[in-house]
Amino acid sequence: MILDTSGGRGSKLPARMPMPARLGRYELTHELGKGAMGVVYQGRDPRINREVAVKAIPLADEFDPEDLEQARTRFFREAEMAGRLSHPHIVTIYDAGEDGGTAYIAMELLRGQHLVEYTTAARLLPTAVAIEIVARLADALHYAHQNQVVHRDIKPANIMFDAPSGELKITDFGIARLSDSGRTRTGVVLGTPSFMSPEQLQGRPVTGRSDLFSLAVSLYQLLTGQLPFRGDTMPGLMMKIAQEPHPRICAIHPALPPKLDAFFDRALAKEPGGALRKRRELRAGTARPEPAGKALTGHAAERQIPLRRGVRHRPGPRAQRGHDRHRRGHRAGRAGRRHGRLQGR
Ligand SMILES: Nc1ncnc2c1ncn2[C@@H]1O[C@H](COP(=O)(O)OP(=O)(O)OP(=O)(O)O)[C@@H](O)[C@H]1O
Ligand SMILES: [Mg+2]
Repeated sequence: MILDTSGGRGSKLPARMPMPARLGRYELTHELGKGAMGVVYQGRDPRINREVAVKAIPLADEFDPEDLEQARTRFFREAEMAGRLSHPHIVTIYDAGEDGGTAYIAMELLRGQHLVEYTTAARLLPTAVAIEIVARLADALHYAHQNQVVHRDIKPANIMFDAPSGELKITDFGIARLSDSGRTRTGVVLGTPSFMSPEQLQGRPVTGRSDLFSLAVSLYQLLTGQLPFRGDTMPGLMMKIAQEPHPRICAIHPALPPKLDAFFDRALAKEPGGALRKRRELRAGTARPEPAGKALTGHAAERQIPLRRGVRHRPGPRAQRGHDRHRRGHRAGRAGRRHGRLQGR
């Protein structure tokens, strides 16, 4: 099996796939990006004149005939499960279908870029903003897990973020599961090993905790510009994830709050039991949270994450802050739920 070690940025797809004019009833206009197994196009649903993103997966090319039926069944089952999710930080799936051997998913067209944009040392987000983003993603994953949907490929490339509006969405729910249908012809097994939990790499059963591990790896990269586990070879990387401790983040960036190191010790634990499920624990990792609503610095000084009421860090006397944070936690939960309902999704 070949695993994609590119962090999801390099495509294993051959350049052979020309853009079809349409898939199902969706008219395709241009390519938005390529992944390990699919191409994402911008398109339009002529029936209701809605702009959409269409992810195309050439199942008939990717799977041997004996695996094709199983891959197809799994694809539609996963699309249906993902389609039932309704959360402000999860991409909305509109439709799934198959056209001439190509399976496709029509979904909400997202603005912005994936978070890979903010994973290099020169372009890191402010600490509090990165933590706020990951706390919201943790909530979204918690919701998905409660609905029996595990993502299996959480990484910055699968998280779209639009800094001016603050729109933040997880994409590709369950798509990595397709690889369980058997070997693809190109040998690609979906999932990105640098972000995978020890149990996922070892082929053990994958639960929600695995997603939380991958989210912690993503946060580590967003804060430091480095991956916690690196290896030149697959066996080397697997060994590091399974056995070796990650470098202390304060050794990489002394300015980061020391409490985050204790947080990562738990969130990147080798055995199941990560701590990312609770967003308050994650917030507690920052000793002095900088106001998350404040304008970002450097390259993105003009951008701001608009925070909804209830998740804003308010300045105030030290003694008051802990109390406020506690209350904010409750309000944030209510605000999130209310927002989800108002969206009617
Ligand atoms: N709903 C969407 N709206 C707008 N652009 C999208 C949407 N979904 C994906 N994209 C863009 O298409 C690109 C390719 O996505 P794709 O999921 O195929 O690849 P990937 O996430 O980089 O890798 P992987 O195949 O491992 O998921 C993304 O990086 C993103 O820029
Ligand atoms: Mg993707």
